[in-house]
Amino acid sequence: MKLGIYHLFTLLIFVTANVDLSFSQPYADLRNFLFLNDAINLADQKLEKTLEEISFHKTVHPAHTDTVTGEWITFDRNEWTSGFFAGTLWFMYQLTGEEKWQEYAQKWTHDMKSTAYKSSDHDVGFRIVGSYGNGFKLTDQPEYLKIILQGAYSLSKRYNPDIGAVKSWDPWTELNAVNPVIIDNLMNLELLFLAAKHSGRNEWKDIAITHANTTIEHHLRQDGSTYHIVDFNKNGSVNRKFTIQGYDKNSVWSRGQAWAIYGFTMAYRYTKNPDFLKAATTVADYFLENLPVDHVPWYDFREPAIPNTTKDASAAAIASSGLIELYSFTNNPDYFNNAVDILNSLMSDEYSSKQTDDSSILLRSTIHRGDSERGTIYADYYFLEAIIRYKNQIESEFPYLETQSFFQLGQNYPNPFNNQTQFYYSVENAGNVNIDLYNLAGRKIKTLFSGFREPGSYLIQVNASNLASGFYIYAIQSHDMRKSKKMLLIQ
Ligand code: GLY
Repeated sequence: MKLGIYHLFTLLIFVTANVDLSFSQPYADLRNFLFLNDAINLADQKLEKTLEEISFHKTVHPAHTDTVTGEWITFDRNEWTSGFFAGTLWFMYQLTGEEKWQEYAQKWTHDMKSTAYKSSDHDVGFRIVGSYGNGFKLTDQPEYLKIILQGAYSLSKRYNPDIGAVKSWDPWTELNAVNPVIIDNLMNLELLFLAAKHSGRNEWKDIAITHANTTIEHHLRQDGSTYHIVDFNKNGSVNRKFTIQGYDKNSVWSRGQAWAIYGFTMAYRYTKNPDFLKAATTVADYFLENLPVDHVPWYDFREPAIPNTTKDASAAAIASSGLIELYSFTNNPDYFNNAVDILNSLMSDEYSSKQTDDSSILLRSTIHRGDSERGTIYADYYFLEAIIRYKNQIESEFPYLETQSFFQLGQNYPNPFNNQTQFYYSVENAGNVNIDLYNLAGRKIKTLFSGFREPGSYLIQVNASNLASGFYIYAIQSHDMRKSKKMLLIQ
């Protein structure tokens, strides 16, 4: 059963070996597979608790937890966060295959329907993609697509061609903002991309592309950090750049930076426009370079009060989900490894509710500067999405893990490769195992492993930086059995 594959991960044993002295571990954190089980079990327990708890509430969409009780504060469907609970339920269905989660997900999704007609702010994207978008991706229901198209239509009404962007909010007098566009707005573009993809309404895709380009031009700073708000004059010129989320106008609101990582990567998914991939790596590099040692950012990267200020687990969760997708487009293992570091940290007692009665999965998000830390539904949503992306990534790179109890030799990944690659092998019966590397003429170049192995799956990392380009054969021998595969090194 494909959905139950994560159970197998508990059986895996990871041992690394390297060919050359310049040892490196592009996938070192594969050894932390165990957090998958923990995360899914914890989500199951907390979501059951949530459903019980909110059944007594008048409004049904959990938004954030009470800082004293740890219980959810709920809102009606119109809050910007209201699509996330439905999405979280869809993710649980995806992770477990259990019907009950689908039933709950449908119920919470249907409650969001009327918000597709709302064009009073840009958050129609968050509300509808979280609920109907996830539901449609999993079930392909035409009724869901209709609501997605309606939502895209509503969002497109906020597009201003003179500015080249979808206005986040209407004019805001107290802020002296005429046409404010916030960095978060990148996320709402997914509604336009998704609707265009399934309807052929390319004008929606064009709006999204123009908006993303405008964001690159005006929200990105030279150093890869981002502004929270750019306000535009009627003629499209910039009125001013500022923040109401961060410390001051030069600050770097970490959740905004995470929205940018995720948003540009998502825009690349739908367009394959290299400018969006470049923007995604630029903002991701800034985020990663500025993370504290526990991989969970402060609320604002440039907050002068650091370390006497709050963390934002939601920024970490959003970024980890975006980074895993970014890795899938760039093959840069730094993005994957950092995402896994973040997930491991979020699963620790410091950030997860494993050891507490809180109703959210994650603790310690900060909604606004100066607020106390608490659970938020968007932290839980992006955390579970990251878990799914992580699981999918591992399964696509190492598909044979599904039958790992047999004698197996996995295809190396990446392949072709430049210097570094890796592969799995599995041993069915305890005994001596030899794994060797040969050139195409059959001459042995190196022993990769030689020794005793218990039954299980093992990972070998290969650094071939001092070998010449070309095809190589790697072969495993255990008892009387032998298997070999070809790898291509391109220096
Ligand atoms: N999109 C609103 C926030 O991130 O606070």
